[in-house]
Amino acid sequence: MARRKIIIDTDPGQDDTAAIMLAFASKDELEVVGLTVVSGNVPINQTVANTLTVCELCGERDAKVYPGASNPLIRPAVTATQSHGKSGIEGPELPAPSFAAQDQQALEFLREALTLEAEGELTVCCLGPLTNIARLILEAPETAKRMREIVLMGGSYAAGGNVSPAAEFNIHTDPEAADIVFRSGIPIVMMPLDVTYQLVANKERQEKLFSVSNRCSTALAEMIAFSTPHYKRKYGFEGRPLHDPTTVAYLLKPELFTGRSCNVVVETKSDVSVGMTVVDWLNTTDRRKNAYVMRSVNVDGFFELLFARLAKLP
Ligand code: RIB
Ligand code: CA
Repeated sequence: MARRKIIIDTDPGQDDTAAIMLAFASKDELEVVGLTVVSGNVPINQTVANTLTVCELCGERDAKVYPGASNPLIRPAVTATQSHGKSGIEGPELPAPSFAAQDQQALEFLREALTLEAEGELTVCCLGPLTNIARLILEAPETAKRMREIVLMGGSYAAGGNVSPAAEFNIHTDPEAADIVFRSGIPIVMMPLDVTYQLVANKERQEKLFSVSNRCSTALAEMIAFSTPHYKRKYGFEGRPLHDPTTVAYLLKPELFTGRSCNVVVETKSDVSVGMTVVDWLNTTDRRKNAYVMRSVNVDGFFELLFARLAKLP
């Protein structure tokens, strides 16, 4: 079967690291055409450096990494160092990357790739705030619509928020960008906190990761071990939830997930609930069903896939 061409839009990020590793460990199914970077968990210079570091860890020194937005569309940048550590991939001691990011910026790369590739050929996995994608839609809407689909980690339905009572970090950081993406008409698969909170990398799973014992799985296990006390203190979790790799796992084994087409609206005005994804799960309105919202996941199946694939990495 032809490999699926993907672009990963990312803000590494410990769980972004898991997603990037899973993608590079799945070359029979996925071709990573490029990685576009956005500020999010840590500022843009650090997310670019982290993306290069993680690619290097995977042995992917030819990976094409494109720097993107350093700030949200209109709001000041925020970070999530409390859960990812100061570097954003805190935990392991990792060598500095031996290769550089591309000179071309993310927006130009996205435009070029979507123009050169056949329509419906490119899937974009969005793992951070949606600023890069929103800018593309604003500047080149017809080019943006050439995407096959966007598979994004973000938002929540009934799980509430993780950075406010109502909002999840990726959406909350740039709600205006998320609103543009959800209104764009581009097919969207949404992996909300309702799914990703089921995927806690607890002690047993961390040990399993360590037992895979290659540099990638060990580095990821050390990242997760680093942030486990934060998740225990703040949320009462026994480990870090693995949010972002759900997007890549969906591309590899969609049957692991179940959801339904819904209308999703992003709140951009309210001071109380800005960044909230209002998911019409029960179809109470006649608003367009603009996203396929996942609600449940085969937890054991997800971790079996992750461990098996990570075992293929260096
Ligand atoms: O809320 C979780 C999301 O925010 C994940 O993508 C994590 O990496 C952070 O970016
Ligand atoms: Ca992320």
